[in-house]
Amino acid sequence: MILKALKKQIKWPWWPLLPLYPYGQRKTIFKELIPNKVWCFDQLQGTYYVAIPIRLIVAKVNGGLMLFNPLPPTEELLNSLKRLEDLHGPVKSIVLPTASGLEHKIPLPFLLRFFPDAKIWICPGQWSFPLNLPLEWIGIPKNRTNILFADGLPHKECCDWITLGPLDIGPGRFQEISCFHKLSNSLLVTDALVAIASSPPEIFDFDPTPLLFHARDRGDMPLEDSDDIRRKGWSRIVLFASFLRPKYLDIPSLSYVLKNAFKRDLFKPKAHFGLYPFDWKDGWETSTKEILGEKKPKIQIAPVIERLVFPRAKIAFSDWLNELKKIKTMKWLISSHYSSLVVFSQKDLNILIRDIKSRKWAIDSENWGFLGWLDKKLLKLRVVPKDPLRKFRD
Ligand SMILES: [Fe+2]
Repeated sequence: MILKALKKQIKWPWWPLLPLYPYGQRKTIFKELIPNKVWCFDQLQGTYYVAIPIRLIVAKVNGGLMLFNPLPPTEELLNSLKRLEDLHGPVKSIVLPTASGLEHKIPLPFLLRFFPDAKIWICPGQWSFPLNLPLEWIGIPKNRTNILFADGLPHKECCDWITLGPLDIGPGRFQEISCFHKLSNSLLVTDALVAIASSPPEIFDFDPTPLLFHARDRGDMPLEDSDDIRRKGWSRIVLFASFLRPKYLDIPSLSYVLKNAFKRDLFKPKAHFGLYPFDWKDGWETSTKEILGEKKPKIQIAPVIERLVFPRAKIAFSDWLNELKKIKTMKWLISSHYSSLVVFSQKDLNILIRDIKSRKWAIDSENWGFLGWLDKKLLKLRVVPKDPLRKFRD
């Protein structure tokens, strides 16, 4: 009975629109990040158990609340949001601050229906693939929708808005509009920056299966659980999510995968029937150092974003970082992936800028090999342009 009620609370029937794990069952974790000022809702999202947190940020604004980066509005999420409205006022605005982020774009039409009085603000240059459909066709009503910058900016009394991009990435544009929320001194971002810790995020406490699945070495190994196993699984998931195919990962032969699959105790969907098409080579642990922060979450541009979105546009990323330098009161970073709240002062920003200036950008070696190969392939096929800034110059 309880299980049935819980399943109803976390049900997301529209998952086939973006068929990613955990599909139709989206557990949500609600957290207050900065007392009475910023909150967040975390869900998981991924492919083949390579799942990372994805986040809707709620910020206090004059007279109510602003929702930043929509997520699937499950009953569980809406109930917590209603309680927040009772305490802090109604949802005044819903912001989709990214031009390309499908994971936030798809839930927007479903979320906005529950807040008919809220204004909608979206990043310019929205696009869909393979067909570039008009906004109304994807359920975003024109009469309630404003384009950030072109139609003004929301909550200017407590928010500063900073653009990253636009860049031409072939089928559409990459652009995200970050928000500096002055009430809490926090910078709200979508994909521009992430902070990654070496311990797995809290949301895996609900169901640690992805961690246990990836901590193994073969498909016939049972899914065992301990703190160390969870950390091991998390490290591998981060390597996958960061580099798609990290250096120390081999894909074993099909016969090897099949030989270890379909064992009795693992013949269930939850264990993917024992199908485990990965082979981690010795030394993989050392390669996590560049992305995982041991003592505190490591703040970085996600490698997949650096190598596939900004490989020939470091200047655009640097311009954005330089804009952040003007925000003297910045204290926190709240990103829509990985760690939710991390210290991010001008000192931390300067460390990040120094690191980016001193190291090579968008390399092809070590863990970055596959990303580099993929970018070159897309460039050769003319899927992505040589100069991603040309279209937007002048
Ligand atoms: Fe994202």
